[in-house]
Amino acid sequence: MRKFWMALSGLVMVGYLLIHMYGNLKMFAGKTATGEYAYDAYAHHLRVMGEPLLPENGLLWIVRVVLLAAILVHIWSAFTLWSRAKKASGGSRRYAHSKAIQRSYASYTMRWGGVTILLFVIYHILHFTVPVIDTAPGAASIFPRVVESFQQPLVLISYLIAMIAVGLHIRHGFWSAFATLGANTSPKSRAIWNTVAIIIALAIVLGFVAGPIAIFFGGITL
Ligand code: HEM
Repeated sequence: MRKFWMALSGLVMVGYLLIHMYGNLKMFAGKTATGEYAYDAYAHHLRVMGEPLLPENGLLWIVRVVLLAAILVHIWSAFTLWSRAKKASGGSRRYAHSKAIQRSYASYTMRWGGVTILLFVIYHILHFTVPVIDTAPGAASIFPRVVESFQQPLVLISYLIAMIAVGLHIRHGFWSAFATLGANTSPKSRAIWNTVAIIIALAIVLGFVAGPIAIFFGGITL
């Protein structure tokens, strides 16, 4: 059951990331007919979507609550699954043949990759949503903030490292999720889901890094 919750919460987050990545591609869209940055118009749209049925920021807060719940469920299932696996194996030395080493390599990268991503999300929210870590002082709105930030090598590098962690985590996690949900039934279905996992992970990573890299090399300007 815990694996089920881990898979479900992970898939919710992958869904969010696909939408967030797609939205970020608006960096390439320049300005709207009214002269506003398309990226700013999109960010504004996210805040008023669902009105008048929902109050301003209503949908945004629903998404935030669902995401926070998914993160908490994911972390809770990870912790309880590890402690259970540790107890069951009587410590990691007992089954030290190649399969176990392979498995523990995956769980090691998943664990530390997960911690890295969690730290990134905290940094990312403090960077763009709050923004306490202000890498673009005086920016009038979110698009100038993003552009001025990614013109700086350290900001770009920190995001590139985080996106590699995100890609590796999704590549393994997405496959595991479908195995948990019953897709791991034959070599053929394993191969298919493995390919799907690689495509989704690559799409997310490439979609996210495209904008910041374009900004850094001058392909996107204010
Ligand atoms: C290069 C990659 C990314 C860029 C350029 C980017 C950009 C942004 C920006 C500009 C915002 C603020 C939007 C606004 O206030 O209107 C934001 C919010 C956010 N991003 Fe990202 N993002 C990236 C990757 C990610 C990743 C990988 C994750 C998750 C693992 C993530 C999770 C979030 C979250 C949770 C928020 C807060 C949404 C909210 O509640 O307002 N982002 N992102």
